[in-house]
Amino acid sequence: MQRNSGKTITELIKSRINLTMEIIRTIHDMTEFSSRQRGRGAVMGFVPTMGALHEGHLSLVRKSVKENQVTIVSVFVNPVQFNNPDDFKMYPRTEEEDFRKLAAEGVDAVFAPMAEEIYPDGLDKPGKTYELGKAAEVMEGIHRPGHFQGVARIVDLLFRIVRPKRAYFGEKDFQQIAVIRNMIKNEGIDVEIVACPIKRADDGLALSSRNSLLTPEMRKVAPEIHATLKYSVDYSKEHSVKATHDTVVEHLDAIPGMRVEYFEIVDARTLAPIEEWEESPWIVGCITVYCGDVRLIDNITYRLPN
Ligand code: PAF
Repeated sequence: MQRNSGKTITELIKSRINLTMEIIRTIHDMTEFSSRQRGRGAVMGFVPTMGALHEGHLSLVRKSVKENQVTIVSVFVNPVQFNNPDDFKMYPRTEEEDFRKLAAEGVDAVFAPMAEEIYPDGLDKPGKTYELGKAAEVMEGIHRPGHFQGVARIVDLLFRIVRPKRAYFGEKDFQQIAVIRNMIKNEGIDVEIVACPIKRADDGLALSSRNSLLTPEMRKVAPEIHATLKYSVDYSKEHSVKATHDTVVEHLDAIPGMRVEYFEIVDARTLAPIEEWEESPWIVGCITVYCGDVRLIDNITYRLPN
């Protein structure tokens, strides 16, 4: 790690923030920390993130702090889950600010490794291929080839290093949660996945690290995504699945600068597209929209089992 006046970057950050939270950079130290916690019988909650933390992440952290004796958060922009190198380059990075926020929430340890620590053989060496089920073959699985294999690779590794009892994920990434559940089932990993509701700005825009990349013009119109989805729930009561789908896409595509990449109305249990409302008791609409160059995702529930 780079040195500056005899101190590592981690020591410098720690001294500036005056933290009691551990900042851990290596797999060895992370494994030791979590073994020590397990050894003293502590129940551990884990929140994996890619940093650029916002209230959505912090709501997961707060839930973990409340429900577990020890909370560990990872901050790692995982290169192998980006199918587009520019997207990886542009992804916001705000490490010191992230650490400050996590310390203020009472997090016990943050795991923030370098890419070389996680992928010592380089990024080009393919990892193992995970069995992720049909849920990984639709929507993001089609539009971001390799993305879910990359997510599975890092989440599998993090779970094996941290070995938490519970792990917290936001429902904005609805499909990601389904894929991670499939991954841990197939890998025999014993972690309870806790799905947490989407957090929104006052104007309805789903909180996302990518929102900071929006131009002021696109930030003004981006709330139309949620507004349109919300409107479509009422519309769906009198209209077919296809008509509901089309009205959402037509409305958003008509907004200058916006382009719907996909909108799928799916059975929330399998993520398979549906054609009739009667096909499932639990139905969700998942959308990805380009707002200028920024790719935003969101979802809405149409039907929920009683
Ligand atoms: O949802 C995310 O931020 C990432 O996909 C995750 C789960 C931290 C893996 O890199």
